[in-house]
Amino acid sequence: MTDAQLIDGKAFAAKLRERVSAEVAKLKARHGVTPGLAVVLVGEDPASQVYVRNKGEQTVECGMNSFEHKLPADTPEADVLALVERLNGDDSVHGILVQLPLPSHISEPKVINTINPAKDVDGFHVINSGLLATGQQAMVPCTPSGCMMLIHDVLGADLSGKRALVVGRSNIVGKPMAQLLLDANCTVTIAHSRTKDLPEECRRADILVAAVGRSEMIKGDWIKPGACVIDVGMNRVPAPERGEGKMRLTGDVDFASAKSVAGSITPVPGGVGPMTIAVLLTSAVIACCRILG
Ligand code: GUN
Repeated sequence: MTDAQLIDGKAFAAKLRERVSAEVAKLKARHGVTPGLAVVLVGEDPASQVYVRNKGEQTVECGMNSFEHKLPADTPEADVLALVERLNGDDSVHGILVQLPLPSHISEPKVINTINPAKDVDGFHVINSGLLATGQQAMVPCTPSGCMMLIHDVLGADLSGKRALVVGRSNIVGKPMAQLLLDANCTVTIAHSRTKDLPEECRRADILVAAVGRSEMIKGDWIKPGACVIDVGMNRVPAPERGEGKMRLTGDVDFASAKSVAGSITPVPGGVGPMTIAVLLTSAVIACCRILG
């Protein structure tokens, strides 16, 4: 069998960022407004620091203002809430993102639900998840939104009747992903750690979205021949073959065995990963436009 079509998220994300830059230029020229994205990072988690740095760089590259607020890990919850309130009231800030996870003494729902829903570029506020769940205009979480763009890019606009399986039920990816696939008229199943016979569930799926955070868990013989496979996993695992202490990035799908069965598949890295920040920038521009009215 021939190998699957590789879904090039890196290239797609680059095109998306070009479109964002053009929209930002228009907003500046026509309205004299520069979209601003504020990012709040509490603590020193290394993965979050890399993420936040990349966000900041790409925000500026697209011509937007980037406001970074880095707070020590022991910052009281009240101070984080006060910062979010201040950003809500700041007219130069159109999008607010609080990097997750937060330290355990801070309530994530409390902080997220303090963000003005109109500035909630992550789409995590309960108002936005409620709007999404009821088919109303919402800020949509970036990773699932990026996955949908890639799925439409390979399968076309009409996904009606396709069987979609989302493996993972997180609020950040699994649940909103299932919602978006449902809105696109797919027949959607959500699988999770208690699902019985996951391989069989996978084999029924025309579209398989893996978002469990378990390295290379989904094997090639679980995949329906020709299926579109979207791998959201980003797992850092030891790679002794590259030298002592070296790590490599893996997905939740065993790419080596999956690529000869799937019709199309996202690689890791270079698939879904680059889409998240590109979609975030898009959401910041959308938030800016809606706030301007
Ligand atoms: N942590 C991991 N992914 C994300 C994300 O998309 N947004 C935020 N705010 N935190 C995250």
